[in-house]
Amino acid sequence: MNADILNLLRDPAGLPFYPVVFQGLYILTWALHALFVFLSLGALGLSLYGTLRQKTDKNWSILTPHLIQVGKISVSLLIVLGVAPLLFTQVIYDPNWYTINTLSGLWVVIFIYCLLVGYSMYYWYYYANKANKSSSKLIGAVSFLLLIFAGLLMHSFAVQSIQPEKWMQWYAPNGVVDTSGLNFHVNTIRFLFLISLSITAIGLFLQNYSDFIKSNKAFLESYDNYIKNLGSKITTFAIIINFVLFIAWSFQLGKITDIFSIVICIYLLIFLLLTKNIKNSYISSALFIILLLIISGFREYIKFNIMNNIGYNIYDYPLNIEWTSISMFILTFVSLGGIGVTFICTMAWKVGKNNGYFDATKDKTVTLLANSVLWILSIWCIVYFAWGFFILFKNSL
Ligand code: HEM
Repeated sequence: MNADILNLLRDPAGLPFYPVVFQGLYILTWALHALFVFLSLGALGLSLYGTLRQKTDKNWSILTPHLIQVGKISVSLLIVLGVAPLLFTQVIYDPNWYTINTLSGLWVVIFIYCLLVGYSMYYWYYYANKANKSSSKLIGAVSFLLLIFAGLLMHSFAVQSIQPEKWMQWYAPNGVVDTSGLNFHVNTIRFLFLISLSITAIGLFLQNYSDFIKSNKAFLESYDNYIKNLGSKITTFAIIINFVLFIAWSFQLGKITDIFSIVICIYLLIFLLLTKNIKNSYISSALFIILLLIISGFREYIKFNIMNNIGYNIYDYPLNIEWTSISMFILTFVSLGGIGVTFICTMAWKVGKNNGYFDATKDKTVTLLANSVLWILSIWCIVYFAWGFFILFKNSL
């Protein structure tokens, strides 16, 4: 395929900043999206097993509602964190993204409803389980399948977007234009590998959870040990599965001897050894986040090479540097995003670590962070609107 048409489809306004920065942000934010995708699917999946055990087993009766809660919050985070890579991929790979949104238009709409119904059913599952309804298992299972299917759709958009040589054939099979928007092509091994990371995520989460509740007197030591043990077994099993599926995927790609694939294989083996020996599970989770960053880089590496080989090089994208929007973005990201997330995480950590009632107003750090967020948000709103109106009037008057 010739990339002339793709180059013509690029945004004539050009990029507001250097493409490599968007590429880096894409890799970073997709890894974060993936972290919560895997945590939510892992937590929901394991909670379904928990619903079968919780009536007869004390440990599972405590763990299951906690897993449901973790998955529920993670879905909202995966959605929020999915928007960022979506924006970055649209900036540097806009011809790819919009072509797929046309070829698979109906599936894109179905994706929205699938997510909407799947997540709403998750809440239903949460309340049904709380009320000890026997229907909760079925509701949870349907929600799980819908969320997995949403992931499969996202996967199909991702893999179709890196097969430009097939777009014409999908658009007009045998010369007849197909406007159904029903193109749906998947790469089973790639999808299975990615989804298998949900098992690793939940295994590590269980270990973090056990380390976290250790200091909390509300939980028995036996419960804590049970969870730690379970988490460690699940993690070991999961990394072996990840390793096998990654080998299969890189073999299918013809990249088994590629340096990037070798790095991932070695990293997975070291990760397996370390998670078995490291006592502090938070370090293992940090290593998992690094693994996700590497995998995210690998996805981008595949895409960059495919596109570059046909003549579409993101580094050649026309530039039109806009310092104002870049400064606004960085300031928002660091001030509002950074302090806001630190505030929420600090408070959540302290609430969980507290044996009983936590009075945030008496905690100096939380109070300082809360006041800072309020001030930053207020200033941000003023700057945002003042700036917006200034530009609007400057351009239109
Ligand atoms: C339950 C819901 C979701 C699941 C399970 C899920 C899962 C996934 C998976 C497995 C991939 C990787 C596909 C691959 O590389 O083969 C992916 C990619 C992606 N997802 Fe999600 N996702 C979900 C929702 C969302 C939402 C709501 C957004 C945006 C708001 C989003 C944005 C993205 C983006 C931008 C990519 C990368 C696409 C590309 O590289 O071309 N996802 N998602």
